[in-house]
Amino acid sequence: MTTQTSVKHDVKDLSLARHGRDRIEWAATQMPVLGLLRERFEREKPLSGLRIAACLHVTTETANLAITLKAGGADLVLCASNPLSTQDDTAAALVQEYGISTFAIKGEDSASYYRHINAAIDFGPQLTMDDGCDLVTCLHTERKDRLDAVFAGTEETTTGVIRLRSMAAEGVLRYPVIAINEADTKHLFDNRYGTGQSTVDAIMRSTNILLAGRTVVVCGYGWCGRGVAMRAHGLGAHVIVTEVNPTRALEALMDGHRVASLEEAAKIADIVVTVTGNVNVFDRRHIAVLKDGAILANSGHFNDEINLKALAEGATIRTVRDFVQEYRLQDGRKVYVLAEGRLVNISAAEGHPAAVMDMSFANQSLSVEYLKANGANLAPGVHDVPVEIDQEVAKTKLHSLGVSIDTLTEEQVAYLGSWQSGT
Ligand code: ADE
Repeated sequence: MTTQTSVKHDVKDLSLARHGRDRIEWAATQMPVLGLLRERFEREKPLSGLRIAACLHVTTETANLAITLKAGGADLVLCASNPLSTQDDTAAALVQEYGISTFAIKGEDSASYYRHINAAIDFGPQLTMDDGCDLVTCLHTERKDRLDAVFAGTEETTTGVIRLRSMAAEGVLRYPVIAINEADTKHLFDNRYGTGQSTVDAIMRSTNILLAGRTVVVCGYGWCGRGVAMRAHGLGAHVIVTEVNPTRALEALMDGHRVASLEEAAKIADIVVTVTGNVNVFDRRHIAVLKDGAILANSGHFNDEINLKALAEGATIRTVRDFVQEYRLQDGRKVYVLAEGRLVNISAAEGHPAAVMDMSFANQSLSVEYLKANGANLAPGVHDVPVEIDQEVAKTKLHSLGVSIDTLTEEQVAYLGSWQSGT
């Protein structure tokens, strides 16, 4: 097998490409909406000549997105949006089999991670695609030299959208960015069912523990937390939800979960999963009351939800299984941390299943097409996915699943538009 290529890259091992291609093709079988878009893009070339830098998790699902964008005529470079989430065979296949410049190595250190983001910026993008806002942040801080060329972008995730809104509020965001996460066909499925399944999958793959009968504490009841709680409950765990938002706490309660403060919950937790998007959620005071043998995992975007510095103080640390580190504390308790506190679902498992990424990445592809046509007329700031795109994705997904739905009769349309008739 040849491992020579002129495509710019930094990946672990090009000889993994064939295996990566097989897995990318497998993911494609679960991504019919993206598949249809790819066929149309191939015919119409709506992205012709568009230079895109994408900072996304380098997975088989993302590979299908990249292939779709390339089919549409885009000139694309890809780098990782997390040091642990890269699938090395996928990265190799992108370079070797699909001719897409890729800079990503699983387990890379922070220096390599940012070198790869910089390599993507060196490519001179006109449009950015981000998952967590690291690419946009880099462009607006260290790499302002390349900022003028960028006219628009997309952002995949909750955390990234929060950061962009902060940038916009401070008046520093220089171009319009579509918040893919805000589409219904994104967060209702990818965040809830995707994070739910893949987080539980990651805990089981890395530890092989039985969840039935265990106490699982889920910190945060956003769309991701809802999904994790629902799936852990489905496997027989006793779920305790912790929240700072009273409405969400009530929702968790009425969904059938126990709700408690984290200080109370930490005392009885077998497993804690943080999914809040905030910092030091599981902190020193929670560590102090943990049971011997408790497991800590994070499914939020950044690895700062669990205060690992506090946990490490005076602790002896060793790896006991892949993605499982034992912290033996000074008082003799052992606490286990999964995937170094990085987002566990995509570090210790494969991330969200392709069937939900299908909708997220259809939103991405259609939003990029929309931005190519309209981006120059949008003001700098955070923009929603146009509702027509969101609905088209839902319709196409239903169609691909062979599901029909009803339509309103003319009488019903008129009724909904009227106000005179009552009881
Ligand atoms: N984010 C979460 N899961 C993902 C996946 N499978 N591919 C790309 N990004 C993701």
